[in-house]
Amino acid sequence: MSKDIYYPNPELFPNARIPDMDSYYKLVDEFKNDYEGTWAKFADEKIDWFKPYEKVLDESNAPFYKWFSGGELNVAYQCVDRHLSSKKNKAAIIFEGDNGDQRVLTYRELSYEVNKTANMFKNNFGVKKGDRVVIYMPMIPESAVVMLACAKIGAIHSVVFGGFSAEALRDRIIDAGAKLVVTADGAFRKGKPYMLKPVVDKALEEGCESVEHVCIVERNGEDIEWIEGRDYSYNELIKSQSPKCEPEPMEAEEPLFLLYTSGSTGKPKGVQHSQAGYILWAQMTMEWVFDIQDNDTFWCTADIGWITGHTYIVYGPLACGATTVMFEGVPTFPDAGRCWKMVEEYQINQFYTAPTAIRLLHKMGADEPSKYDLSSLRVLGTVGEPIDPPAWKWYYEAVGGSRCSIVDTYWQTETGGHMISPIPSATPIKPACATFPLPGIEAEIIEEDGTPTPVGEKGFMCITKPWPSMIRTIWNDPDRFVKSYFSDCKKDGKAVYFTGDGAMMDEDGYITITGRTDDVINVSGHRMGTAEVEAAIKKHPNVAAVAVVGKPHEIKGEGIFAYVVLKSVPVSQKDEVADDLETIKEINAIIKEEIGAIALCDGMAFVPDLPKTRSGKIMRRILRSIVKGEPITQDTSTLEDPTIVPTIEEIVKGLY
Ligand code: PRX
Repeated sequence: MSKDIYYPNPELFPNARIPDMDSYYKLVDEFKNDYEGTWAKFADEKIDWFKPYEKVLDESNAPFYKWFSGGELNVAYQCVDRHLSSKKNKAAIIFEGDNGDQRVLTYRELSYEVNKTANMFKNNFGVKKGDRVVIYMPMIPESAVVMLACAKIGAIHSVVFGGFSAEALRDRIIDAGAKLVVTADGAFRKGKPYMLKPVVDKALEEGCESVEHVCIVERNGEDIEWIEGRDYSYNELIKSQSPKCEPEPMEAEEPLFLLYTSGSTGKPKGVQHSQAGYILWAQMTMEWVFDIQDNDTFWCTADIGWITGHTYIVYGPLACGATTVMFEGVPTFPDAGRCWKMVEEYQINQFYTAPTAIRLLHKMGADEPSKYDLSSLRVLGTVGEPIDPPAWKWYYEAVGGSRCSIVDTYWQTETGGHMISPIPSATPIKPACATFPLPGIEAEIIEEDGTPTPVGEKGFMCITKPWPSMIRTIWNDPDRFVKSYFSDCKKDGKAVYFTGDGAMMDEDGYITITGRTDDVINVSGHRMGTAEVEAAIKKHPNVAAVAVVGKPHEIKGEGIFAYVVLKSVPVSQKDEVADDLETIKEINAIIKEEIGAIALCDGMAFVPDLPKTRSGKIMRRILRSIVKGEPITQDTSTLEDPTIVPTIEEIVKGLY
């Protein structure tokens, strides 16, 4: 084994469910020997069923797998109501606002808020089981309350990240056919108010006929427009609601929520998750990967607009009856010590964030952690993108005091919860490595035909058996579901789930994720489809063609780089850089409008043409190599015009 191995500190994990590697292998074997039986054991132990399920796994309509069919439960009951008998006065949500304002919701208070909101949705907005509710909210407790209220009455929520533009929000509202949109006037960031409601107003200007009402949480108190008969104040309506609401019994496979994510082509996909399978795995991974214990305070810094926020701010921690921290602000305000100050103040035990944040905090305040008492920490987590060894080391030493386990968790919107991750109490960790599949997860690196990829080589990261928290379908588009996930790789002649990522196993069996194999860029741990960004750029009247690729970025991991062919002569070739800058500004303004600031380009090159094959296919690999400054190893002789490659190389070199 390589020398660079970090062993767990057993003193930190006296009550671990998987205390060592022997227990890990035992559990892996248990699943291997009796896959369905072992899942059933956990489902019986963890879920408060209203009605027992009839079948553990139904594969009859693969890949539309069903788990725990016939069983009935309610996820809000699982996350809130069932804890009232033993934890009614325990903190469920600890909220810290951007300005440092604090709020604590106990399980009893949370149950009242969820029930009142559920009653409001039913009584004031006529929301019924199966209706879709779009949530466009900041990081405030009401966001979790609204999600749980939907779950309580069986409505399907679709949270849209608050950084998305009106256009992006509109697409998601229309695709989901939402009846209700829940938003806030706005919130606070870096000491200043920012707005959300005007974005909703703009989104609803056209095409959103399904939307009957907009419910507005008043958070920052700024002036907003109120549209008579459509817009209602959450703060007002909540006052008269009853705090009692019976949970709607939900069949295990009925949708719990949709969450839109980018694919390599076309519009975003509405990933549909189930009730029972999703909540089961959310709970199990909280216990295994975060070693959540009754007295712990858990903080995941993600936004609720992403899957990480769904599973590890709201559903996972609350299903476990844990205390979850929600933070409205940004980690660098008022300074780069904000997170560490909060860790000290709330005595955080598990801290879960993205490598982008770690790189930023490392760069902006390498010594900040030493100013605070971080001794409560046991587990440090990362998610969303590969973490580089220097950032990992700083996280381990400066934040974790060389005591804590780091869990590099690999998973996706579609997987619902962690797939490959160290177990903090058991796994000897190699820096920046996701290590091993979790028990029950058949994650394998294979070739398209299912043969195992040799050690040390890159292969396709597949999950070769269905698992409970997997995506069920793409909303409104089952064909795309099959095509996106179950058509690239087969094992034993059967289509298996392909993640879209490449991965490599070392001689010790450790798995490292090598990144996307498709045209998806990972910006600050957020998935961005090149096709979406290209479609936005093409809206500029002077753009003839465009190709977008990922470019390594010191903080974001990957940034967005666009090769743009203008209809008129590219001005840069006439040395009129000022005009170029104007065009770049205009293009970025369009991107902001169509998608949001997260998709802004980090670089742009105006080129005379793109490298295309004779059949018209753009050779993106060449463009990726050029922007990375790598030598071109691809065969360029098949290009329509091979001379374009050195021309583009020259232009890009000139930019830096
Ligand atoms: O490429 C992988 C990367 O993020 C993608 C999933 O993105 P999303 O659905 O937005 O979910 C992010 C949060 C779960 C994956 O296909 N990714 C996720 N975790 C890791 C990762 N890449 C490397 N290491 C990870 N730990």
